[in-house]
Amino acid sequence: MYLTKEEEAILNGEKGYWEAKALKLLVKLGELSGAEKLVKIERSHLSGVSYKTVGDPILELLEDMANSGVKVKTFATLNPSGIDVRNWDKFGFPKEFVEKQLRIIRAFEKMGVKTTLTCTPYLFENRPRRGEIVAFAESSAIVYVNSIIGAKTNRHGNLDALAASIVGKVPYTGLLIDENRKADVKVNVKFDEPLDEYFSLLGLYIGDILDSNEIPLFVFDNYTNLDESYLRSLGAALASSGGIPLFHVLGMTPEAKNLASEREIYKNGAPADVLEVDERDLLEFKNSIVDEVEDPDLITIGCPHASLDEIRRIAELVRGKHLKMGKKFWVFTSRFVKDEADRLGLTSVLESAGIQVLTDTCMVVSPLEEMGIRFIVTNSGKASFYIPKLSKNSIKASIHSLEEIVNRMFK
Ligand code: F3S
Repeated sequence: MYLTKEEEAILNGEKGYWEAKALKLLVKLGELSGAEKLVKIERSHLSGVSYKTVGDPILELLEDMANSGVKVKTFATLNPSGIDVRNWDKFGFPKEFVEKQLRIIRAFEKMGVKTTLTCTPYLFENRPRRGEIVAFAESSAIVYVNSIIGAKTNRHGNLDALAASIVGKVPYTGLLIDENRKADVKVNVKFDEPLDEYFSLLGLYIGDILDSNEIPLFVFDNYTNLDESYLRSLGAALASSGGIPLFHVLGMTPEAKNLASEREIYKNGAPADVLEVDERDLLEFKNSIVDEVEDPDLITIGCPHASLDEIRRIAELVRGKHLKMGKKFWVFTSRFVKDEADRLGLTSVLESAGIQVLTDTCMVVSPLEEMGIRFIVTNSGKASFYIPKLSKNSIKASIHSLEEIVNRMFK
């Protein structure tokens, strides 16, 4: 890989130990993927924050780095942690877990990372421009910025996103190159009614069929416009079951709009395969993959973190109703959205109905099993995919639409 004089100096340790280590990792990854050079970035998003998923070795590594004085060069935001930092006591997060979690957050802060603790940084202060090259970790954020904004990021993990933030550069490869962003497969979808549950299931279903390097183009027969929250759910689910970092929706997402002909969106001008999906396929698929939970001890929404529009929708559905006795209903969101929801009086509508709104964490990366949760109902494909896996099957999770959840669980 071609390196500038300045990059060579960093690699030789002239700018610091961790800077050299970070660049070495990026060069190695770049060479493995055939990159010829590094390109500058100005923003990034980091994952690997929850003590539940990273444990003591990463906690110690982060503290060593932070204590050495190394700083990020980008505007870098941070994924959810394992706790609601402001209200951990109220929600029963275990104290020992909280202490270690706070050490991780402090280490990132010391390195200059904005401790936003959300997987939806793109909804507020860390929203890339269309075409901007960035280094995002967190699969749901990667697929969102690539597909819905049309910014460019490769799939970064915890450590290489941190390395890219420290160096302020990424290898020029993969999805940063326009030709590699074109679609491989066409997916024709027929829904009579667009329920949030269907978009989650569609993402899990197609992610399960495709290879992680195949990019789908969705064509929705009955719709020319879809709520952004549906596309967010679709992307998060695709990224979960298939590791897919980019999708297009004909006529809706930035790179699949205003085309002279549909052929322009495909690599080589035509899809390598065409798939057909309808509601029946999705419900059959659902029965084959998720557990049915009749009597949940937690109902949860907000994976990815709920947007203000989603909170508004929940408020409309539950206004004047009340959660059935003995149930717990948590909505996970960012502080930014929660503050707006507080200001607009939406949080109080949710709270009057028996719903609690948590920030800084989520149902997947918080220690739910240690908090006694065993059965979950959610509208999120990503959450229903990961919760049983991360809890080694000690928690069962099923998917339902928000409307159905409200019908079943509220009086
Ligand atoms: Fe976000 Fe947690 Fe889901 S990080 S995408 S809410 S698993």
